Amino acid sequence: MGNSEYILNCEGISKAFGGTQALKDVQLHIKPGEVHALLGENGAGKSTLMKCVIGLVKQDTGTMEFEGKPYQANGPVDALNCGISMIHQELNPEPHLTVAESIFLKRENTKGFLLDKKAQNKRCEDLLSKFEVPYTAKTKMKELTLAQVQMVEIIKAVSCDSRLIIMDEPTSSLDSTETDHLFEVIRDLKAKGVAIIYISHRMEEIFEICDRVSVFRNGTYVDSRDMEGVTRDELISMMVGRDVKSVFPKVDCEIGETVFKVDKISGKGFHDISFEVHAGEILGLSGLVGSGRSETMRAIFGLDPLESGTMYLEGKEITNKSPRDSIKKGICMVNEDRKNYGLCLLRSIRENISLPNLPAKQKGFLLNQKREKKEVGEVAKKLTVKCASLEHNGFSLSGGNQQKVVLAKWIMANPKVLILDEPTRGVDVGAKSDIHTLMCEFAAKGMAVIMISSELPEVMGMSDRILVYHEGTINGEVSRKEILANAITQENILQMAFGQR
Ligand SMILES: Nc1ncnc2c1ncn2[C@@H]1O[C@H](COP(=O)(O)OP(=O)(O)OP(=O)(O)O)[C@@H](O)[C@H]1O
Ligand SMILES: [Mg+2]
Repeated sequence: MGNSEYILNCEGISKAFGGTQALKDVQLHIKPGEVHALLGENGAGKSTLMKCVIGLVKQDTGTMEFEGKPYQANGPVDALNCGISMIHQELNPEPHLTVAESIFLKRENTKGFLLDKKAQNKRCEDLLSKFEVPYTAKTKMKELTLAQVQMVEIIKAVSCDSRLIIMDEPTSSLDSTETDHLFEVIRDLKAKGVAIIYISHRMEEIFEICDRVSVFRNGTYVDSRDMEGVTRDELISMMVGRDVKSVFPKVDCEIGETVFKVDKISGKGFHDISFEVHAGEILGLSGLVGSGRSETMRAIFGLDPLESGTMYLEGKEITNKSPRDSIKKGICMVNEDRKNYGLCLLRSIRENISLPNLPAKQKGFLLNQKREKKEVGEVAKKLTVKCASLEHNGFSLSGGNQQKVVLAKWIMANPKVLILDEPTRGVDVGAKSDIHTLMCEFAAKGMAVIMISSELPEVMGMSDRILVYHEGTINGEVSRKEILANAITQENILQMAFGQR
């Protein structure tokens, strides 16, 4: 090795977890100052390779070289000291720490043996001022939204003077303004000679920000290319090894009676919300992150209190005091933050999928384990959940596959109203298309589907109707007809999200 053209060289890396060969003899070469995309389906091995780079996982075979010298990190702190930092896909903030404590964790400002809080907070404020964030050094991590936590991680990496920053799906919970902001930061870093490994399932972003791309498939290295001259379809077929429709599979089905209706509901983060959703309809909720969409749905689902207003299910007034209450009535919700709400990582995949459905199955009959296994297996197969066995724990799944398991569990419950909060966040193109197809199947069965999505192409491609949120209220409504006729564009929806009529 010793090839000075590259800042990072990985050669012949293999890694197995029990029976799963996550990486088979892969390579990766990163140039200084480039933004290098790592592309591959869910479970292709992207995160695992990055974990090898920062020493969180020890590869079985293979060697690495960083800045011309043999390199092997013993762990993230070691990697950080060598000049490599990573922003993880599944964020795990310490809720009781402040922003400053979180940013300087394990490299605190000290005065002799004492922690110099004041100096640390000051240093942190200086850093934050460069990023226009709505929190201070003293804000507790638990008060931040997922998007804000992610920004803290990015600021932390920047503050460490890293020469290589790995970003594992950094934009998956950012809205378009926050993403633009991140891209500015990335361009800045690049200009300073920092190399970035950028993992994302969003093709538009990869074309916008990346210089080169390496593609992985099923634990193997496929190829590396310059972004200039490569097409979207070429990349997709390199990734999946088969053709996938890159357009949305929306099928129009008959829209029936009103299934669910809310009248002037208000709560924390939203006010005066009225809408109805019909059988067979997919209702999209667009808007900036923090505009009140998730808050509304959380209150409807009984996760948060409703302060005023009424809800009707099939014409009858209802109240949902808890998620359990809602599920019983036939209203289910797939949450955006799967780790906190959706998945028990220490339970088996099978248990995760069938957990909410057990009460229904036990009514009158005894739980039929054989049937449970069969049904869970079918749903998992339909969603192409990539796992060695359904008996393995949730935490062994790749990020995108965790999302599929969360989805599978509610699908099994067969609800009247299905609320999906960012259902395809972190899900690869192939699986995304599978999930969209499933959504259409549910609608065709007469289910009313409500989908929150911050991806404009998704919300525009899949919805029969779109409600656009702005600062806690609905600022506009768009029909599929208007979208198909090009009477409403992405820009128009963004303008509504920013408060214009
Ligand atoms: N700790 C673990 N124990 C067992 N299996 C694991 C573990 N970590 C990863 N795997 C398996 O290794 C494979 C690669 O996973 P990895 O997380 O690297 O995928 P990925 O390319 O990052 O996918 P995604 O796009 O969904 O994030 C998957 O089949 C996954 O289930
Ligand atoms: Mg991953």
